[in-house]
Amino acid sequence: MKCVDDFRIRLAGQDHVPIMIGGMGVDISTSELALEAARLGGIGHISDAMTPTVTDRRFKTQYVKTKLKQYKHNVHSADKAVVQFDLDQIAAATRMHVSQTMEAKRGDGLIFINCMEKLTMNAPRETLRVRLNSALDAGIDGITLSAGLHLGSFALMADHPRFHDAQLGIIVSSLRALQLFLRKSAKLRRLPDFVVVEGPLAGGHLGFGLDDWKKFDLALLVREIRDWLDAEQLAIPLVAAGGIFTGGDATTFLESGAAAVQVATRFTVTDECGLPTDVKQAYFRANERDIEVNGLSPTGYPMRMLKNSPGIGSGIRPNCEAFGYLLDSSGRCAYVDAYNQELARHPEAKKIKVLDKTCLCTHMRNFDIWTCGHYTYRLKDTSRQLTDGSYQMLSAEHVFHDYQYSRDHHIALPAA
Ligand SMILES: Cc1cc2nc3c(=O)[nH]c(=O)nc-3n(C[C@H](O)[C@H](O)[C@H](O)COP(=O)(O)O)c2cc1C
Repeated sequence: MKCVDDFRIRLAGQDHVPIMIGGMGVDISTSELALEAARLGGIGHISDAMTPTVTDRRFKTQYVKTKLKQYKHNVHSADKAVVQFDLDQIAAATRMHVSQTMEAKRGDGLIFINCMEKLTMNAPRETLRVRLNSALDAGIDGITLSAGLHLGSFALMADHPRFHDAQLGIIVSSLRALQLFLRKSAKLRRLPDFVVVEGPLAGGHLGFGLDDWKKFDLALLVREIRDWLDAEQLAIPLVAAGGIFTGGDATTFLESGAAAVQVATRFTVTDECGLPTDVKQAYFRANERDIEVNGLSPTGYPMRMLKNSPGIGSGIRPNCEAFGYLLDSSGRCAYVDAYNQELARHPEAKKIKVLDKTCLCTHMRNFDIWTCGHYTYRLKDTSRQLTDGSYQMLSAEHVFHDYQYSRDHHIALPAA
């Protein structure tokens, strides 16, 4: 019987352990977590979601304070069009986040950055261009394009000297999305170096409809895309993602033609993961009925999360002057609209509740929206319960090696 270690993914002319730890914003997939994946010979991701906030926390920069000071006059206005990001600051924050991570890299693995198109930042093209090119400037090994079709993203990097040697890939949840992307990228004579096929059981935002995600199956999606690529004679490595919980699950995908797997949920309860300890314990404790896919994200994509996330229902004032990552090109965000409607309905209320959307920037920044994969309820089976009722935290190395070496769906528990 085979295990993941019997396979390798070839990227950048080198073989790697075919385990990618997926990007988890905002700084849930920390540098420390990505660095462990690389040290162990696999591929780790940092995220470029809200990098100014992340560098403020990690390196004591003051980007958020500076932006808030500049736009403080606008906090009570429903119109957020004026709240623009300073592109030089975005570039500096991205370079700092990436270069500090890359300088610390040890081992043969790779570190990629997850870049979500849906972070439209009130100037989608300009801010995305700066984020992508700054990550390349700072030496990132590769970029994974996510949460969006990214039809223009390759063109935004085409003039960068590293456009052809950095590993560039995209996450898709349908053959159609991949076909659209490939049609665009062919014009630049640049195919993606890898394609992540993400199924409906993943954490974060889903590339399916709120009503139909249950109808899809990762294995079928991978096969459909693999067959089409073969027919087109396109040798692009496929990475399967979403609900791959054991080494045995991963091996099954590798045996049926995936070049690697992307996994995330099992790493949310590791020391290196950026979630606060009490949130990691909430993930451990979760039962199946505690997890839902809902339409609360202002991005318009369905999102999976724990039902007891403190951010759900909260009616806080939008924080776009400090954050504003989801403002579209005309300065609008579905949460800002929902908040203002609620405020108009209850003009006298001291505190309001907003039930249909959430202020995702603020709540992700504060770890108050607990997004998670479908199998989060199985995390308790991957550790030991301690005498005080809490669960023993795992190391990223332990989980990585469990994926790499375990057979037959066996899950290794940590040493007591
Ligand atoms: C807590 C959490 C946050 C996530 N955040 C992001 C994100 O910011 N961008 C993204 O493309 N995918 C995100 N994902 C999806 C993962 O990168 C990954 O593809 C997926 O969760 C793999 O499935 P698994 O969690 O069942 O292993 C997130 C997943 C989790 C669990």
